[in-house]
Amino acid sequence: MDIIRIQGGRRLAGEIPIHGAKNSALPLLAATLLVPGVCYIHNCPHLSDVDASMKILRHLGCGVTQQEDTVTVDATVLSGCAIPDALMREMRSSIVFLGAIVARCGEAVLTYPGGCELGPRPIDLHLSALRRLGVTVEEQHGTIRCRVEKRLRGTEITLPIPSVGATENILLAACTAEGTTVLHHAAREPEIRDLCHFLNACGASIRSDGSGTLFIRGVSRLQGAAHRVMPDRIETATYLAAAAVTGSTLTLTGCSPDTTMTVFPALEQAGCVLNTPAPDCLCVQAPARLGKLGTVRTMPYPGFPTDAAAPLLAAACVGEGTSVFVENIFENRYKYVDELARMGACIQVDGRVAVVEGVPRLQGASVACTDLRGGAAMVIAALAAQGRTEITALQHLDRGYQDLVGCLSAVGAEICRMDEQEN
Ligand code: UD1
Repeated sequence: MDIIRIQGGRRLAGEIPIHGAKNSALPLLAATLLVPGVCYIHNCPHLSDVDASMKILRHLGCGVTQQEDTVTVDATVLSGCAIPDALMREMRSSIVFLGAIVARCGEAVLTYPGGCELGPRPIDLHLSALRRLGVTVEEQHGTIRCRVEKRLRGTEITLPIPSVGATENILLAACTAEGTTVLHHAAREPEIRDLCHFLNACGASIRSDGSGTLFIRGVSRLQGAAHRVMPDRIETATYLAAAAVTGSTLTLTGCSPDTTMTVFPALEQAGCVLNTPAPDCLCVQAPARLGKLGTVRTMPYPGFPTDAAAPLLAAACVGEGTSVFVENIFENRYKYVDELARMGACIQVDGRVAVVEGVPRLQGASVACTDLRGGAAMVIAALAAQGRTEITALQHLDRGYQDLVGCLSAVGAEICRMDEQEN
C-alpha cells in the first residue's frame, strides 16, 4: 500500500497545470454509449474513476483506447446491457450509465452503486424520472432492471432538488426519446453544460433557458464527435487552498476561472488576492498568515461547491480567527475532521455545521483519507503542518486527483509517494 509523506512548512511558487474534470469526464464517457460510432474525448484525466468507466464501456462491448489524454470509444456495436455488481461498486457514480444503456439497448440491468462515504446516496430521483420517460423499473434484491418497449417517450419532469447525477441520467435517456422532454429545476453545474455541448455535437437537440430548465428534443440517432473535457474546477480550488494554507503565490494554467469563481469570496475574505492574467489562467497570492474564511455555505451551482469545502476547511484550520462551514448537500461530509484533529486542528462539528478556530500551527501526524475530498484536506493541512505527515488510504485520492504529488512537488512542496513497506 502506498503512502504520501509530506514535510510541511514549505512556501510554494510556480505553475500547476489543471487537468480535465473528473465530474465531466465520467458522464461524457457514459454518453458515448448512445452513439453507434466513434467518439474522441480529449483532455480526459488519468484517474481510477475514469479507468472504472472505461472498464464498464468495454464490458458492454465498446472498443476503448486511451492515448495520453485522449480516450477513444467505439460503441458501434454493443454486446450487453448489464453492469456486474463488482464494476458498479468500483465507482459510486456508475449509475450515470443507466440512462444511456436503457436508451440505446431498450433494457438495462444494474445493481445499486452501494453505500457512500458521504452518507446515503439515494437514486430515487433517477429512477422516478426514467419511469416518467416510459421505462419500466423493477428493483429486487439490490438489482435494478429497466426495460422500455420501442423508444422512450419525451415528457415534462420537475426535479425536487437539482441533482447533478439525475439531470445527467435524464439528459442521456431523453436525447433519443420520441418527442420533447422539458426538465425543470435541473442542475446547473458547468459539468452539465459540458455534457450538453458534447451531446449537441453528436446531433442531439438540447437547449437551456439559462435558469434551470432544459428542453431536450429527441432525435432518432446520434453520430460520433470529438470533445475536450472542461477543466476541473475542484482540482483548481484544491490548489488555491494549497496556496492559501502555505502563504504562497501560485499560477494555475489551463483552468476555467469562470467556473471556479464560486470559491473566490471565501478566499478573498481570508486575504488572498486572485486575478486572471488570461481567460484560462488563475493567479493566487496568499497572505503570510491566512485570515478567517467567514461563513461558507455549500449550495448547488452557482453556490459554493460541496466538493471544495474540505480543502478550504483544511486551510481555515490555520487561518486567524473563526470560520464556519455549513454543508447543505450531503448528510455526512465531515468524517475527515477527526483526522485533521490529529494534526492539532480545532474544529467543532454539530450536524451540518463545522466551526473552525484557526490555530497558529498544525503538527504533522499519521492520518488517513476518509474519502476523496477529505483526502485532499489531509494534503492541504500537511503542507502547512510543522514536521512530517504520512497519509494512508490513497485509493480515495486516486479517484479524483491526477499526479497530485508531482504537481505539488513541482512548485516546491516536500512531498513524495512511496510503498508503506519502504518506510
Ligand atoms: C455529483 C458529483 C459530486 C458532487 C455532487 C454535488 C459527480 C460524479 N459527482 O454527485 O462530486 O459532490 O454532484 O455537487 O459528478 N439525491 C437524492 N436522490 C437522488 C439523487 C440525489 O436524494 O436520486 C440527493 C443526494 O443524496 C444529495 C443531493 O441529492 O444529498 C445532491 O446529490 P447529486 O447532485 O445527485 O450528487 P451526485 O450526482 O451524486
